[in-house]
Amino acid sequence: MVTASSPVLVFDSGVGGLSVAAEIRRRLPGLPLHYLMDSAGFPYGNKDDVTLVERVVKVCAEAVAEQQPRLLVVACNTASTLALPALRGALDIPVVGVVPALKVAAAASTSGQIGLLATPATVNRTYTDNLILDFAGGCDVRRFGSVELVQWAEDWIAFGREPSGLFEHLDSWLSQPQPLSHVVLGCTHFPLLRPMLERFWPTICWVDSGEAIARRVEQLVGGQEPGLQPGVVTLSWTGERAPTEAVRRYVAGF
Ligand code: DGL
Repeated sequence: MVTASSPVLVFDSGVGGLSVAAEIRRRLPGLPLHYLMDSAGFPYGNKDDVTLVERVVKVCAEAVAEQQPRLLVVACNTASTLALPALRGALDIPVVGVVPALKVAAAASTSGQIGLLATPATVNRTYTDNLILDFAGGCDVRRFGSVELVQWAEDWIAFGREPSGLFEHLDSWLSQPQPLSHVVLGCTHFPLLRPMLERFWPTICWVDSGEAIARRVEQLVGGQEPGLQPGVVTLSWTGERAPTEAVRRYVAGF
């Protein structure tokens, strides 16, 4: 039974979904959250589809049985663009997914020059082709798939290590004759690198889905009473690799 202490379960392969959890926390500070990282399955962005659907359904079903959450947020574009139908079929709670915010970027861009920065799996998905056709049809959408950025975001949050190769990694994609007005951060790890992205490329508008997901969660949980105490935030992971102290501090600082 769902009660006021039932958490919202937020799930990702690693620390990326914390960018979404932080937005939920900002909007609904009284809501208990449980954050699950599939550290044993990390990274997702280079896994084949069959393996990934099976894994995501298994890990989420186990966590739902254990945590008894009121809803599940799949705070991972790579998993959401593939496994939402299977998850919704397997679970009897609402499942909210995160997909690249192409619609927002297309509506906001006057030049129609948009970038999509995501994992290789997400940039190559049919789901993504359809998102572009449906919501960014009149735009020139340039895609870039990166596994490096995922690892750099992990290292930044887990060890405070600034990515040294970030500028070289993205600059030839970003410095083309037709400048990109908006770049969609279509992987939840990437907003964690936003301060560096903004420092190197200050004219680009970096768009992510975190706030939209938080609004959707708010609709589903029916808002919250004012004056509630801050909700508890708990953390779990798969496998042997426990989160570092820095990750725990990051979560405690929500
Ligand atoms: N954070 C995830 C996403 O939004 C996946 C990163 C990975 O494990 O490759 O796609």
